[in-house]
Amino acid sequence: MKIAVLAGDGIGPEVTAEAVRVLEALELPGLSLAHADVGGIAYKNHGHPLPPETLATARAADAVLFGAVGDPDCDALERHLRPEQAILGLRKELELFANLRPARVFEGLEHLSPLLPEIARSLDLLIVRELNGDVYFGEKGIGETAAGAREGWDRMSYSEPEVRRIAGVAFRAAAQQGVGLMSVDKANVLETSQVWRDTMIEVARDFDQVELGHMYVDNAAMQIISNPAQFRIMVTGNLFGDILSDLASAAVGSIGLLPSASLGARQTDFGTYGLFEPIHGSAPDIAGQGKANPMATILSAAMMLRHSFGLEAEAARVESAVGRALTDGVRGLDLGGEAGCEAIGAAVRDRL
Ligand code: NAD
Ligand code: IPM
Ligand code: MN
Repeated sequence: MKIAVLAGDGIGPEVTAEAVRVLEALELPGLSLAHADVGGIAYKNHGHPLPPETLATARAADAVLFGAVGDPDCDALERHLRPEQAILGLRKELELFANLRPARVFEGLEHLSPLLPEIARSLDLLIVRELNGDVYFGEKGIGETAAGAREGWDRMSYSEPEVRRIAGVAFRAAAQQGVGLMSVDKANVLETSQVWRDTMIEVARDFDQVELGHMYVDNAAMQIISNPAQFRIMVTGNLFGDILSDLASAAVGSIGLLPSASLGARQTDFGTYGLFEPIHGSAPDIAGQGKANPMATILSAAMMLRHSFGLEAEAARVESAVGRALTDGVRGLDLGGEAGCEAIGAAVRDRL
């Protein structure tokens, strides 16, 4: 079981180190790790945020554990050299088109949420975010208007095949769990969303046991806060999924708690090849201070055990250790506590 560890920038290396320690504590036979530079650190060391050797290391592995990329020092670079292009490049190159972002309030931890406890308790949402298309990967540029003003533009699009394959992932998950599916779009304004919605309706014909709903993204943002119980699985495009998942993390209590799995079609000897990362970024405001909450990354490692290695029991063991650490009052800065990154990692390992 080969894992490529791409720690990246800012708090990336801090949180990834704790997730690796948790994996090592499980003493899984045959586990090997290969580390490689990615993001701003890769630009500084190799002149590119996603060097060919890093991509090769990711491809050669059975799964990728990813920290975060992003460095304020790199924000003025040409776009193709910026750290964020590394994660976008990995998702595209590895055809990881399905991003699963579960947002669930741990039992007994409703008080971590800013929502009323009875509303927080009902939050148990899987966001299925399309990851290879949308305005993220359309043509873009900066030009000039006729009047000579600077103008930026980005082309947004979804084709039927792109929507069909993410729909397939979301419908299969909904069918498996016996729950409804909410498709989130902006079909009242965008043609991209019209094709999205029409295709969702077409795919729904193959899944008559799944009830499909549609909601505009502005309403969905409002309803995640006011009535989350109505959602179990939500499927949406790349941009809306990015925004709604940060929103959902705040409803859970902190962005430091939300993991993610990015999956494609590739199968390995053990399960589905994937990249696993917290939904948060490199958090330059707290980087290097040992203050980051590594739980999102540890939970991402649990998703890796489940999806890429077929180790359901070990995945559940890690998730329950995180849950118990929280129940026992282990709180990072993000949850109003004082536990540092290493202390949180140790607390989780103690409870494995
Ligand atoms: P961010 O997620 O890095 O941080 C937002 C806020 O949440 C900050 O106040 C930060 O301190 C806090 N935070 C985030 N993770 C935390 C954790 N684990 N524990 C405690 N607090 C945490 O978002 P941002 O500030 O908008 O972006 C910073 C950089 O990260 C940018 O360069 C951005 O492009 C990049 N980014 C990368 C990824 C990724 O690698 N997948 C994701 C999001 C943002
Ligand atoms: C995320 C991040 C990325 C995204 C950025 C860093 C490209 O915000 O993983 O949520 O927008 O997908
Ligand atoms: Mn994001």
